[in-house]
Amino acid sequence: MRILLVMDVFDLKITTGTVANATETFHSDIGIKDCLITAIGKNIGEAKRVIDATGKFVLPGGIEAHCHIEQESSGGIMTSDDYYSGSVSAAFGGNTCLIPFAAQHRGQKLHDVLALYHSRAKPKSVIDYSFHLIISDPTDEVINEELPKIIEQGITSFKIYMTYDKLIVDDQQMLNILAAAKKLGALTMIHAENNAMINWMSEKLIDSSHQEPKYHALSHPRTAESEAINRAIALSSFIDTPILIVHVSTEAGARIIAKARYDGQKVFGETCPQYMFLNAQTMDLPDMQGAQFCCSPPLRDRASQEEIWRCLQNGTFQVYSSDHAPYRFDETGKLHAGKKPPFTKIANGLPGIETRLPLLFSEGYIKKRITLNHFVALAATNVSRIYGLDHRKGSITEGKDADIAIWDPEVKKIIKAEDLHDNMEFTPYEGMQITGWPETVIQRGKIVIEENALKVERGNGEFIHRKKIDCTGMPGRLAPELDTNENFGTKIDI
Ligand code: URP
Ligand code: ZN
Ligand code: ZN
Repeated sequence: MRILLVMDVFDLKITTGTVANATETFHSDIGIKDCLITAIGKNIGEAKRVIDATGKFVLPGGIEAHCHIEQESSGGIMTSDDYYSGSVSAAFGGNTCLIPFAAQHRGQKLHDVLALYHSRAKPKSVIDYSFHLIISDPTDEVINEELPKIIEQGITSFKIYMTYDKLIVDDQQMLNILAAAKKLGALTMIHAENNAMINWMSEKLIDSSHQEPKYHALSHPRTAESEAINRAIALSSFIDTPILIVHVSTEAGARIIAKARYDGQKVFGETCPQYMFLNAQTMDLPDMQGAQFCCSPPLRDRASQEEIWRCLQNGTFQVYSSDHAPYRFDETGKLHAGKKPPFTKIANGLPGIETRLPLLFSEGYIKKRITLNHFVALAATNVSRIYGLDHRKGSITEGKDADIAIWDPEVKKIIKAEDLHDNMEFTPYEGMQITGWPETVIQRGKIVIEENALKVERGNGEFIHRKKIDCTGMPGRLAPELDTNENFGTKIDI
């Protein structure tokens, strides 16, 4: 006998689309109720609203895990995007969650830094968000008293810099931060470039009157990146704690990460669209236009683009982020130090939060360099796991937040700055032809983007408390000098 159940009516149902997660692709309907995905299957029942996704891809909403929004640089320059324009632009690019930085400048208390960024994000963000903490002043008080409280508030990753005079931490400070991360269950993200090499090269170039934007590329040698990655991995594997090397731009750097992973060290790697789709030729444009392409690490050459692609394909990079750092081509941003500043005084960073996923979809999935499942892994799933968000986000699974992007895999577009929704007047990807774009974006069951229009108010996004970093199943071991089984039983409190 068939038992009839009185089924709840869904708030929203997405029908007949091709659904893809990082590990599977299937044809199914999706039922959403009270912000969550509550049913996946056929004949799941009635809904108050139905979206017909025939011919479309139904994918987890993207998670943008490296972006600078409403953040002052170490030189005091404010990004052009605040939490409204930054989050709107992210949403139009298929994202439903952001993890920008809350940046500590020297002398600031972490509590105050976090309070400031909460006050910036809460009233404005249209999609969900968390923060990574930038630590530039790791005093004993910061490490021992302030950091534990920050971790308990769900901020379970921080970024440190091996370069930039106002942000740099030295090796001993790095060890202190890494040890705290290990104890507290946090992941340390590392901007790995050798500061002395950059300063030395910059001085040599400026002294010989090589000041134009293109010299920025020469002032950050490839070896500066690989040396620093090597050192970062040596320090973190010494105390056996996970790190993530952000925005890797060179094959040499990628190889060090690949080898470290092969050797059983807890290392993740991230690259960004600029290292796959752009090269340093554009830095030689006339009239200071090369300044638009100044970022750190810098753009490299064409061969390098191919190498970075290969390392994305082969899994050396688990994370693909925009590193959206928007500075306009005027006195508020790139040219804050004058109309023709030397390359050392040009604000560093490229915009790209809205184009990150369409570029990868088009050049990666459509051109068969990656599978649809790998696209999903890079768009959302990998970072949800690495950054402690997978209890809520990163896949289309019953019980998770109904964060979904419905992609039209056939639509063709040409990227134009005027069509994007960030607060920028240029895009480094101007004129690129794209196939595929997210047409409907849904956050916790609510439509955020539909028919090329924003459907939610500012402040729609919520702060997401992230889990501590779980090292279960990761390889790695303490250095023998720290291991009581091998160091004459010496207890060293790390
Ligand atoms: O040039 C860049 N990437 N600017 C943003 C700051 C950073 O180091 O990520
Ligand atoms: Zn960086
Ligand atoms: Zn960055």
